[in-house]
Amino acid sequence: MKKHFLLAALCLTAPSAVLAQKFEGLALTPPMGWNTWNTFAANIDEKLIRETAEAMIANGMRDAGYVYIVMDDAWMAKERDAAGNLVPDPVKFPSGLKALGDFLHSKGFKFGIYNCAGAQTCGGYPGGRGHEYQDALAYASWGVDYLKYDWCFHGTADAQETYKIMRDALYTAKRPVVFSLCEWGGNKPWTWAKDVGHLWRTTGDITDCYDCQKKWSRGWKIILDSQVDLFEYAGPGHWNDPDMLEVGNRGLTFAESRAHFSLWCMLAAPLMAGNDVRHMTSEIQSVLTDKGAIAIDQDVLGKQAQRWETGPLREIWVKQLEQGQWAVCILNTSPASAKISLSWSELSYFFSGKHAVHDIWQKIDLGTTDQDFSAEIASHDVALLRLTPFK
Ligand code: GLA
Repeated sequence: MKKHFLLAALCLTAPSAVLAQKFEGLALTPPMGWNTWNTFAANIDEKLIRETAEAMIANGMRDAGYVYIVMDDAWMAKERDAAGNLVPDPVKFPSGLKALGDFLHSKGFKFGIYNCAGAQTCGGYPGGRGHEYQDALAYASWGVDYLKYDWCFHGTADAQETYKIMRDALYTAKRPVVFSLCEWGGNKPWTWAKDVGHLWRTTGDITDCYDCQKKWSRGWKIILDSQVDLFEYAGPGHWNDPDMLEVGNRGLTFAESRAHFSLWCMLAAPLMAGNDVRHMTSEIQSVLTDKGAIAIDQDVLGKQAQRWETGPLREIWVKQLEQGQWAVCILNTSPASAKISLSWSELSYFFSGKHAVHDIWQKIDLGTTDQDFSAEIASHDVALLRLTPFK
């Protein structure tokens, strides 16, 4: 009798206990891909997605690791159908999303999509609230591999509980999905989202400037400053997300684009390109596909850089890499080009002993840490260095 009771209790509790988890083993290094929002906002359609995928094959981005192609807000019709299903906008996506997902998969990409935990998306399209399990099944049927989940119109909902509902819905639908929480950091997701999603936004929106502040968005330097205390929360399968890349977008100089990219690599940030990759300069293409910089971002230890120094001229970031290696990024924060020097003993908090020094952007070996580093660095540009134990 007792035994039967126990069995019945187990049967009742087991399903939810089993399903209350995220998909493990995904995003063991920071996800890389491309997202529609920063350049195209609501002006998206299947032609753009297909052309972008083709461009990313031709320009080497896919093979450099940018495999998630994510449609952000405004892919939906303004209303759900009579059965409550999400409907892709029939004008923007006449072939439907299953066909688009199949196309992306056939080209070696993964398919990402956006919705919102609130009643509506930030752009006023149908949100996911109350439809989580139904939507998760729809995403699975379209072959979705990545879900960015926003936080507009959430009313009085509790963030942690709300995101867990979608996590469980995705898990129940059985198709592995990278779950990207876009809660903007207000509820400190780094303290609770490790078991909920694979990455979480730590800030409001980025925009394409160095350090401007607009009503809803700000430049990458302002965002960078706000990441300083978050390094201990990132690791394989769970990343701080300081928002998508503005690399190559109009409001940044080339130096600012390159520095932005370098520092996002130092942060072990998700690298979601946000420019029009069909029409970018070869310089920007080389930055986005640079193997040395990407390897710093994708290092298997998954450590986020720490800021060691912030001065009027230089800012120094240090990231631990596998096999006793280190990445060091020196940012010229001043408005003019400057000769910047660094004596390696200044970083003895992190490492000691002789290391070989390689300059990622100059593509040259600089000798060893026996010599001080010194270089002319343009305003808002960086020196990005990889240090390898000297044998
Ligand atoms: C919010 C997000 C952005 C983008 C827009 C879409 O602002 O933070 O990244 O997804 O919504 O409306």
